[in-house]
Formats: sequence, C-alpha cells, structure tokens
Amino acid sequence: MAIEFSERIRRIPTYPVAGGYAQEEPLVRLASNESPFPPLAPVRAAIDAALSSLNRYPDPSSSLLRRRLSERYEVPASRIAIGNGSCDILLAAGEALLEPGAELVYAWPSFSIYAHIAAASGARAVTVALDADDRHDLDAMLAEITVATRLAIVCNPNNPTSTAVPLADIAGFLAEVPPHVCVIVDEAYCEFNLLEDPDASIELLDHHPNLALLRTFSKVHGLCGLRVGFALCGSDALPRALDQVRQPFFCNALAQAAAVESLAHQDAVLDRVTRTVAERISVDERLRALGLEPAESQANFCWVKLGAERDEGAIMRGLQERGVLVRAGAALGSDQPALRVTYGLPEENWRFLDALAEVL
Ligand SMILES: Cc1ncc(COP(=O)(O)O)c(C=O)c1O
Repeated sequence: MAIEFSERIRRIPTYPVAGGYAQEEPLVRLASNESPFPPLAPVRAAIDAALSSLNRYPDPSSSLLRRRLSERYEVPASRIAIGNGSCDILLAAGEALLEPGAELVYAWPSFSIYAHIAAASGARAVTVALDADDRHDLDAMLAEITVATRLAIVCNPNNPTSTAVPLADIAGFLAEVPPHVCVIVDEAYCEFNLLEDPDASIELLDHHPNLALLRTFSKVHGLCGLRVGFALCGSDALPRALDQVRQPFFCNALAQAAAVESLAHQDAVLDRVTRTVAERISVDERLRALGLEPAESQANFCWVKLGAERDEGAIMRGLQERGVLVRAGAALGSDQPALRVTYGLPEENWRFLDALAEVL
C-alpha cells in the first residue's frame, strides 16, 4: 500500500524550478532572476568568519540583522520580520493568515508562490488579470476584496512581467483596503525600479498597520544561495504571528552574517544595479531590433511576448540547445507565447541574443 498524503498535498502546485543545475556544460543561466555578480569580497570574509561558530545554533531572533535593517530603513526592529528567503515569509504569512473560507487576492500572472500559499491553506485564491500593459490592475483587485479577504499581495515590480505600478497608485489602493486585510507588497526587485526611490514605500508603513513590504537579499545583494529575506511591517503583529508558525532558527548563521555585511556596502550594491540597468536598456533595444516588444521592465529581467504565431516550446528548445536557459511564459501563467529572461553579464546577454536571433 502506498503512503497516504494529506489533501493539501494534492492541491499544492509544484514550484516551476529552472533546469540545468546538474549539467557540466557551462550554461548561460538567465532563468531565475539571480544576480550575475558573485558575492562581494567583504561578504565572503564575513561568511568565512561565521564558519567557526557553526557548532552553535544561529541567533533565533536575528537580532543584529534586524538592528542593522532598522538603522538602514528607519523602521523599529520589532516591526521587522526575517525569513529563510522572502519565500519563507510568504509561506508563513499564508499559514498565519489563511484557512478554508478565507480569501487571498493577487494578480495573475504573478509570482507562482502566491498560488501555492492559497492551495496549502485551503483558502480561496482570487486572481485578477493584469491590464493590457501587463501591470497590476489595482482597481480590479480592490473590487475583489470582501469580508472574507485576509491577504492581498501586490508584486511590484511584478514577476514575471517586469512591470511596476507607481507608488501613488499603491498608496491609493491601501487607502481603500479595509484594515482587517493584510497587504503584502512584494518588493523583491524594487531596487531596480527607476520609477521611484526604492525607499519611498516605507513611509506608507506609518499609515497602514496592515501593510508589509517584502524584501530580499537574493536579488540586488546577490545572496540567493544563502536564503535570507525580510519584511518591513506597519505593526509588530505580523512579525509575531510569523514567528509562531515557523520552526525556531529558521535563518541560518551564515545568511545572517552575510546579510549584515552586505548592508554595510550599499555603494557596491548600487553599482551593480547601475550595471544591470545599463544591460536592461541595451538588451531591450536589441530585442526591439529583432522585432520583439519587451514589456517596460523595472526589474532585473525582461518579459517578451513572442507573438501568437510563434512556438514557445520550440524557441525554448532552440535556446537550450545553444546553452542558454531562460524561462517559458507558459510555466509562469502566461496564456500567450512569452519568455522571461534575466539580464546577465554583457557577454551572457550577447549569447542569449545571438541564440534568439538564430532560433527566430
Ligand atoms: C516576486 C518575488 N518575490 C519573492 C521571491 C523570493 O525570493 P527569496 O525567497 O529568494 O527571497 C522571488 C524570487 O524569485 C520573487 O520573484
């Protein structure tokens, strides 16, 4: 007889991971919105220094990291939650806020984990289509909020479509959302958004105790292999609830040490943003020269619709045969042929563009 699993296991969709981890061929990895830059030297030194204490459990409250984040963002440490990656915070928020009968509102296509947390909790997922420019339709999302809504998630800039909505629109949305609804603005890519100062949203926390701004060390800080993220919250209620549903010691010691050190090197981190944005401008221009129309990216990746007549699967295979890994739109919820492509180093981007030109 086979093992019998819970009902939630049957409901939870499988996370669409990119392939290529085990391959020996040098691949151009543009499928996971990672940073192409290796960790900074002082961050590696901090990780090295932390190695000698690995016989001890990590600080369960990540107190030094929370203090540094509090200084950097001017949010009290009690209103900062740390996670084993920001995904961990999303999953824990789902567990703390959702249950059968509750509703979760989010846009679609958006980050695939949102569907996961609805399914895991048994809550109803209320998905709202993006607008014609692949941006969140915040008015339509507002119209879906009911007494049953416990959580609304706005991904800004949005994964997978790379687009951002202006902060003023998010402020207008928050003004209308009833206070019983927790709103998570997932800002994993906010440092790449040139529409706003990435810190401008923090002021909203003073007016909305139900708001959490979700950030990560995985993207701009280039530390996704270590798993560390955080949420800046409008009150201490969410951080406390998140800690109740998680195992103790969820953020490992190397991740804490690396994140603390990385925060001390904002200039180096911002220099990498500048280099990524320069690649964004140049890749998008070259995509347009190929007759494609990338969405207006405010992130470290682009979203390219291929046109209804093109075969997304064949294009993906062609790119893979040429050693280039990108993400297929179909795996990310797109109903039209599309690619999501991370901006890499200049030579990686050339390899992708040459391969795409050949395949098209
Ligand atoms: C929108 C968004 N939020 C959160 C994450 C999770 O990042 P992490 O768990 O590595 O912090 C990702 C990762 O790709 C993402 O695209």
